Amino acid sequence: MTNEFADRVAVVTGAARGIGRAIAAQLHARGARVILVDCNAAALADAAESMPRPDGSSARSVVADLAEPAAIETLASQVAAFEPTVDVLVNNAGIEVDMAFENITADCFDRVIAVNLRGPLLVSQAMAPLFPSSGGAIVNISSIHADHAFPNSIPYACSKAGLVALTRNLALELAPRRIRVNAVCPGYIDTPMWDQWLLTASDPEALASQTEALHPLGRRGVPDDIASAVAYLAGPQSAWITGTCLVVDGGLTVRTHP
Ligand SMILES: NC(=O)c1ccc[n+]([C@@H]2O[C@H](COP(=O)([O-])OP(=O)(O)OC[C@H]3O[C@@H](n4cnc5c(N)ncnc54)[C@H](O)[C@@H]3O)[C@@H](O)[C@H]2O)c1
Repeated sequence: MTNEFADRVAVVTGAARGIGRAIAAQLHARGARVILVDCNAAALADAAESMPRPDGSSARSVVADLAEPAAIETLASQVAAFEPTVDVLVNNAGIEVDMAFENITADCFDRVIAVNLRGPLLVSQAMAPLFPSSGGAIVNISSIHADHAFPNSIPYACSKAGLVALTRNLALELAPRRIRVNAVCPGYIDTPMWDQWLLTASDPEALASQTEALHPLGRRGVPDDIASAVAYLAGPQSAWITGTCLVVDGGLTVRTHP
């Protein structure tokens, strides 16, 4: 693994498990000083311990519920107390609800939007002043659901489509400050969120193998598939890329026949 993030500071939200943990681990392995953020304190401590600093202590971490604007304000001051500048922000924290159109409530819709869309907006707003004058990179974790309809996915899909719009608009707003803003749109990735989704089916194993078979590349994704894409969009190899959305789905969404 290369060391292209040496001397760089990376803040990763939703870093306690799944995709966020893999992103933080990969940036850490490539030399970044990572700051992990999550609302799950126990899992966060475990993740931080697995990414030690040079003196052997755990990676920096902040427990925060990113659905709460006040918690995001506190997060910014906690991050600033750890590091004077931030070079990379990955807005990964997210929730999925599987809900039929008829059952969607205002509270449920608002909660999904608060975590998946308002959270990345407010975290970006809070972190932007910490970026150095030379700029940096923000990467938002959206989903193939932003562009493709699936059953029972209205709140989630709306939040992820909104995140793509946020990515493009923020790219424009932050370009004068040399902060690039891009998104990754993952397909099906093997994480606790995926396990939770399988349990909504009467036969989770059958759903898992049906879904697996839809991938032209022959397998569903693993968190490191997404982490590698994030490292590319956050690093020097993508210096002239901003406002784009990179689909990482094993070919799932280019398929026209089952
Ligand atoms: N797994 C997939 O198939 C898949 C596909 C497309 C997109 N995504 C997106 O990737 C991201 C990560 O997904 P995952 O599969 O790793 O999910 P996950 O549920 O395994 O992990 C999500 C993490 O975010 C944290 N989190 C949730 N709400 C939070 C809040 N309010 N404040 C702070 N932290 C919070 C959780 O505690 C958890 O550690 C999400 O944005 C998800 O929508 C996942």
